Amino acid sequence: MDIILLGPPGAGKGTQAHRLVEHHGMMQLSTGDMLRETRKADTELGRKVSDIMDSGSLVSDDIVSAMIDAKLADMGPEVGAIFDGYPRTAAQAEQLDEILAKHGRNLDHVIELEVDEDALVERITGRYSCANCGAGYHEVFKRPEVDGVCDECGSTEFKRRPDDTEETVRHRMQVYRSETAPILPGYEKRGIVSRVDGMGAIDEVTHAIDSILA
Ligand code: AP5
Ligand code: MG
Repeated sequence: MDIILLGPPGAGKGTQAHRLVEHHGMMQLSTGDMLRETRKADTELGRKVSDIMDSGSLVSDDIVSAMIDAKLADMGPEVGAIFDGYPRTAAQAEQLDEILAKHGRNLDHVIELEVDEDALVERITGRYSCANCGAGYHEVFKRPEVDGVCDECGSTEFKRRPDDTEETVRHRMQVYRSETAPILPGYEKRGIVSRVDGMGAIDEVTHAIDSILA
C-alpha cells in the first residue's frame, strides 16, 4: 500500500510516518529528510539546498522527484511507501504519478492531517531531535522519559532544525497554502482522500490513520 501524508509544517507527518514504519513495516520517504542529508555535503548542490531550506521556500521539482524515483527503484513491491512532504506542487503530483506507474505501483490513500495553523508554530518552535539517532521530541508534547536522555539510544546530545524559527515557519505555511494545498482537489476527484483531525493527541491521530488503512 502506498500513501501520501499531507499537511502543513508541523502537522505531524514525520511523527505519524515513524509510527507507520514501526507498526506496519512501511518505508518513510521524506523529501525533507533526504534534502537534510544532501545539505550536509560540502558541494554546490548542498549549499544551494541549504539556502532554499533555510528560507522556507521549495527546492526544485526535478531534484525532489529524482530523489523519490531513486528510492522507489531500491524498494521491493511488497513494501508500502509513505510519502512525507512530497508531492508539494502540482508538477510534483504529476511526476509522482509517472514515477509510480514506472515502478508498477499505485497510490492507495492521501491522508490529510487537518490542523489549526496557530498551534503549529508552537509545535515547530518546541521541536528538537536526538543528534545521534534522530528520534523526534517536543518540549511540551513529547519529552524523553528521562530528562535530557534520548529514549531510543541514550544519547544526551540534541539538535534543532535551522528552519524552525517562527518567521520561517510562517513563510513555510504560506508556501503550503499557495503551492501544496491546491493539489488536493485532483486527488479528491480520484476518491482517495481521507481527512484526519491532526489536533488530537499523537496516539489518537495514529489510531485514526490505522482505521483508514485497515
Ligand atoms: P519538511 O522536512 O518536509 O518540513 P515540513 O513539511 O515543513 O514539515 P515538518 O517536518 O516541519 O512537520 P511534520 O508535519 O513532519 O511534523 P512533525 O511530525 O515533525 O521540509 C523542510 C524543507 O525542505 C521545506 O521547507 C523545503 O524547503 C524542502 N522540501 C522538502 N520537501 C520538498 C519537496 N517535496 N519539494 C520542494 N522542497 C521540499 O511534528 C512537529 C512537532 O510537533 C514535533 O515536535 C512533534 O513531536 C509534535 N507533534 C506531532 N504531532 C503532534 C500532536 N498530534 N500533538 C502534539 N504535538 C505533536
Ligand atoms: Mg517532517
